[in-house]
Amino acid sequence: MAATAPEYSLRICCIGAGYVGGPTMAVIANQCPDIRVCVVDINQRQIDRWNSDNLPIFEPGLDDMVKAARGRNFFFSTNVDEEIAAADIVFISVNTPTKKTGLGAGRAADIKNCELCARKIAEVSTSGKIIVEKSTVPVRTAEAVARVLASNEKGLSFQVLSNPEFLAEGTAIRDLMAPSRVLIGGQQTPEGLAAIAKLVSVYARWVPAEKIIETNLWSSELSKLVANAFLAQRISSINSISALCERTKADVYEVARAIGTDPRIGPGFLQASVGFGGSCFQKDILNLVYLCENFGLPEVAAYWQQVVTINNWQRDRFSKIMIESMMNTVTGKRIAIFGYAFKKDTGDVRETAACFIVKNMLAERAICAVYDPKVELDEMYVELGYQGVDETTNPDLKKMAFMEPTAVASATGAHAIAIMTEWDEFKTYDYKALYDVMQKPAFIFDGRNILDHAALREIGFEVYVIGRGQPL
Ligand code: UDX
Ligand code: UDX
Repeated sequence: MAATAPEYSLRICCIGAGYVGGPTMAVIANQCPDIRVCVVDINQRQIDRWNSDNLPIFEPGLDDMVKAARGRNFFFSTNVDEEIAAADIVFISVNTPTKKTGLGAGRAADIKNCELCARKIAEVSTSGKIIVEKSTVPVRTAEAVARVLASNEKGLSFQVLSNPEFLAEGTAIRDLMAPSRVLIGGQQTPEGLAAIAKLVSVYARWVPAEKIIETNLWSSELSKLVANAFLAQRISSINSISALCERTKADVYEVARAIGTDPRIGPGFLQASVGFGGSCFQKDILNLVYLCENFGLPEVAAYWQQVVTINNWQRDRFSKIMIESMMNTVTGKRIAIFGYAFKKDTGDVRETAACFIVKNMLAERAICAVYDPKVELDEMYVELGYQGVDETTNPDLKKMAFMEPTAVASATGAHAIAIMTEWDEFKTYDYKALYDVMQKPAFIFDGRNILDHAALREIGFEVYVIGRGQPL
């Protein structure tokens, strides 16, 4: 394959066909029909699904985007070497999970995959390229990537840029089409600035110039961690206040509204919940904590650690309230878990709060009948496995925690419904019909404050809402 086929003005290769790489490249391919965009992955099954009608991830608007460009200037492939070699710009969008063992285990981000990508690029390239760090990485990772690239013995020159992704799942396409900002960090040298300009020229096709922020490499890398830490901090802050509201009969939603109208505070990310989940918040804060410790800043590390500590506490607090409300025992009781995704409009279950509630309920020998409109059964077990719950620790796991095809099936014979995800459909159910098929007293634990609690009490439910001081 020729390095630059005449029909394309530029060739982009993205390593990593996940939640970030897939949607991001779909939008670039749609906005830039003259650019050839290929997403590569070492996982054949993942690539096969991207090439099928059943995409590996659910995102509103993604299907149409992929269908419009796939086969035209948008491709998915496992020909990693060939596609990297042919590219002008290579995005690294592989996962950077929290390390499980070794130095920094449980906190530091594992950048092994990024380094492997850098080694692969150095190995197969026959021309210099711009390498774009899309994965969330510890600050100064670009230095390591650049060193690996510089060790190529072919005299090729590479420029490493940091271009973190701020999209949120469930709104990925909207966020990519109209981003609050595009952040591009690079070396402040003539070559670095030229590389930044090249990447800017891609985004500038649809992003207004004033929304494209250029910084040095380290500011860009760190900004991603800090953005997620600040967002998560707001949730932990309001969740800490939710507990105080329950003790004082204040209402956390009224408090959130009252403080959110101050423009210096703002209304976003003040929704009290059973706890934040998702693949980023906890991982990125732990990464930040680890970095602070490594750079000799234990007080700063302790400050950010508290955001995660409160999140864990909130999940455990919710579980405890469920157990105490149900006459101090849930052993043998069926509990309908409504929602398993870490938020609505996604099938993603990574670090979902629901998993921790199920784990806590299983520890009490309750039966968890889960219903979620998008989550697949094996994904539920995989996530439980990550949290230490599998058939080795719980031999009867599949009898104790399973999925039902509908909300009614899940609630049938249950003592309680626990709302874990804010799916819109949960708001419109016929709760009288659900009440009728449940054991009595029937409980509802609303971990998202999405239901009409007065109406539920009218039906006969005993209702607990996070952050509201009403008695059950
Ligand atoms: C990832 C990171 O988790 C996040 O830190 C970063 O901000 C963006 O990229 P995500 O897209 O959600 O997020 O990850 P995931 O859905 O796990 O996709 C990563 C893909 O990379 C997987 O399909 C995996 O097979 C692939 N991969 C991983 C490679 O192709 N090569 C590797 O060496 C490692
Ligand atoms: C987050 C960031 O928002 C995004 O910019 C970054 O690129 C990746 O991480 P995401 O994890 O997809 O995105 O979802 P987000 O909407 O931020 O929600 C994260 C978690 O916080 C969810 O579990 C959500 O339910 C919870 N949440 C959010 C609350 O509990 N309360 C809120 O007010 C907002």
